[in-house]
Amino acid sequence: MITAQQLNQQFGIGGQLGFRADPGGLVIAEINNAHATASLCLQGAHLMAWQPKSQPLPVVWLSRDARLVPGKSIRGGVPVCWPWFGAHVSEPAFPAHGFARTVLWRVLESGSEPDGATRLTLRLAESDNTRTQWPHDSRLELTVIAGKTLRMELATENTGVTDFTITEALHTYFRVGDIGAVQVGGLAGCDYWNKVGGSTLGKQNGTIRFTGETDRVYVNTAAECTIEDDILKRRIHIAKSGSRSTVVWTPWTEKANRMGDLGQPDGWREMVCVESANALENAVKVAAGSRHTLVVEYRAEPL
Ligand code: BG6
Repeated sequence: MITAQQLNQQFGIGGQLGFRADPGGLVIAEINNAHATASLCLQGAHLMAWQPKSQPLPVVWLSRDARLVPGKSIRGGVPVCWPWFGAHVSEPAFPAHGFARTVLWRVLESGSEPDGATRLTLRLAESDNTRTQWPHDSRLELTVIAGKTLRMELATENTGVTDFTITEALHTYFRVGDIGAVQVGGLAGCDYWNKVGGSTLGKQNGTIRFTGETDRVYVNTAAECTIEDDILKRRIHIAKSGSRSTVVWTPWTEKANRMGDLGQPDGWREMVCVESANALENAVKVAAGSRHTLVVEYRAEPL
């Protein structure tokens, strides 16, 4: 496996991008440029933090109980859910949200954008383990551009001769002042599958406010979403392309206690997940030889 030192030699950008080995053995890319700080774990190509310098608090939330352990997903940040979102349709033993978030990725390229943002591209490293679960010829790459905005491009290429179908998500945890004081906009009038208490279909009326566990897959929606935060006095914008579903999730007390890694006792109140996805009926068929890219771009502004 490539070391942090070798990565620094090949991809480091003096004063802007460096790599370090975490005591648990995982390698982390640290970005610190004129506009923002960000960090990304090479396991899972998992963005763990992004904080524009204009913001006193991070925009992307990481649990204070997050553990960096080989083969385990990190709680918070931006897990990459791929090549399936949620449970696998036919193999209950396969991991929820796919394997991309728990396997190693390798760095392909790094650079500085003209506006001073930092760019990093990673490719999922295939192994016997990934091929057992996903026997298709494919290439998955994530490009992260961290600056005043955070842009992420998740590109799936079908390098084989037969079509395949994926579901996927950039499962972003956003930092908020308190879950009871936020509203998620952009989904009014959309249909959603409610995963709390069975799978029933609902229609969104106005903005979303949270008073209990919420776990919904909004379908057929390409719209930009916003998170309006009355406590931190900011609005986060979530623009996207190549994504037809949006997942909105907060576990609330009981599920957070069961999960145990959300920053007990009430760390879960400081985050909300608004995930740009292609799930359920929005599964994407990637034709042989073609490429599908899910792109998100986040920014924060004062209220
Ligand atoms: C959300 C799902 O996307 O992810 C929830 O809709 C799930 O049902 C949550 O609990 C967290 O999943 P995980 O696998 O990271 O614990």
